[in-house]
Amino acid sequence: MAEKYTTIGLDKAYRLLNTGAVGIICTRNNLGNYNMAPAAWITPIEYDPVTRVVIVLDKENRTCQNILESGIFAIAIPHISQVNLVKDLGSVSGHVQDKISHLGIHTIPGTSIDVLLPQDCIGYIECKLYRSVEDDGVMLLFGEAVHARVLSAAFDRRLLAEKPEGKAVHHLGGKVFVTSSDVTY
Ligand SMILES: Cc1cc2nc3c(=O)[nH]c(=O)nc-3n(C[C@H](O)[C@H](O)[C@H](O)COP(=O)(O)O)c2cc1C
Repeated sequence: MAEKYTTIGLDKAYRLLNTGAVGIICTRNNLGNYNMAPAAWITPIEYDPVTRVVIVLDKENRTCQNILESGIFAIAIPHISQVNLVKDLGSVSGHVQDKISHLGIHTIPGTSIDVLLPQDCIGYIECKLYRSVEDDGVMLLFGEAVHARVLSAAFDRRLLAEKPEGKAVHHLGGKVFVTSSDVTY
């Protein structure tokens, strides 16, 4: 696994999110229970000196509550071949099921924070929460990247979204997903 992935600068981590890809948000609560759930509403807001992101989560989600409890989260960027994993993780709450064991997800540990990550994703951004803002039942969670790594074959100063290895998951709504196509210079 180690040689398949390259650690990238925290000022470049935002480039894994620039395509607007769906992320799998990986969290744990203070009892040490791990959870994963997809989120489409993720955006970088800064990259200098390190990437900062905002994720928008329903306040009732296990994911949101875990982040507020632990102060950490990771964003895994799944490959389009993992779209069924995205659907499965989004169809039930960690409040009612241990999704990681129920779905038999193969995991790897975080590098800088204590979370479990799904194997074989395009990349991973590990974050520390530094602010949260509530808006009518929705939480905006602000995170600062503390570690980022990406499949070596899928990144060369930017996500190689035109290569098979770099094809992320994009959610159009409902059960409809697409991936990236050609590159334009
Ligand atoms: C493709 C996809 C994108 C999603 N994006 C978001 C999102 O941005 N924010 C959110 O609160 N829920 C989003 N959801 C819904 C949550 O993933 C879903 O409610 C999940 O069951 C929450 O699990 P949890 O309670 O374990 O956190 C998305 C679901 C899917 C399938």
